[in-house]
Amino acid sequence: MAAILGKLSNALLIGLLAMVGVIIAFHGGAIGEDAGGWTLGFLRAVHVWAGILWIGLLYYFNFVQIPTMPSVPAELKPGVSKYIAPRALLFFRHGSLLTLFAGIGLGGAYLVEALTFQEGFRVIGLGMWLGLIMAFNVWFLIWPNQKIALGIVDGTAEQKAKAATTAMIFSRTNFVLSFPMLYCMIAHGHIAPV
Ligand code: HEM
Repeated sequence: MAAILGKLSNALLIGLLAMVGVIIAFHGGAIGEDAGGWTLGFLRAVHVWAGILWIGLLYYFNFVQIPTMPSVPAELKPGVSKYIAPRALLFFRHGSLLTLFAGIGLGGAYLVEALTFQEGFRVIGLGMWLGLIMAFNVWFLIWPNQKIALGIVDGTAEQKAKAATTAMIFSRTNFVLSFPMLYCMIAHGHIAPV
């Protein structure tokens, strides 16, 4: 068992197959009749899965790594900055891309209405804007600054300290935005589209 689950790629594959198994068990009969609806359902599952990957890591940074780093002894800090943070950031930023693409695919039929806040699409429109701003922050503010802060690209000690602060501010901004964003995501389909 340890030999199988010890490999992340195996666990990923098993998880994916388990999801497909559940889909077939519950909705398999409907796949042939309503291929469009089924594709949208699958896209929705991918969207939420990728969203958890992304926002889960955002919460790891904000609840665990950022508050703990100041109390980590100096000689142990490279363990985080050289090994843990770069891998967490890898899944964080690609999770944001997958969430974004699946989200745009999900809302493709009403994208313009949502992004321009037409009636019936205002709440999901706000959610989409918040998600887009958050994805922008990840790729154009957090990641470039983290690269300097973690020493992936060169910088003086002063530039590193400044970059770390900028990355932290935008990570915290995304943390704050994640609350209304998530409400908007679920409100359109489960509370009331407005
Ligand atoms: C990055 C930009 C994002 C875009 C463009 C986007 C777009 C969408 C769209 C169009 C829907 C379908 C609404 C509906 O028909 O009910 C949706 C649903 C949803 N999204 Fe997002 N989203 C984004 C980010 C996120 C993030 C970061 C999460 C975090 C987990 C998330 C979680 C959800 C959830 C839970 C649903 C509800 C699924 C359901 O119950 O049907 N989204 N999103």
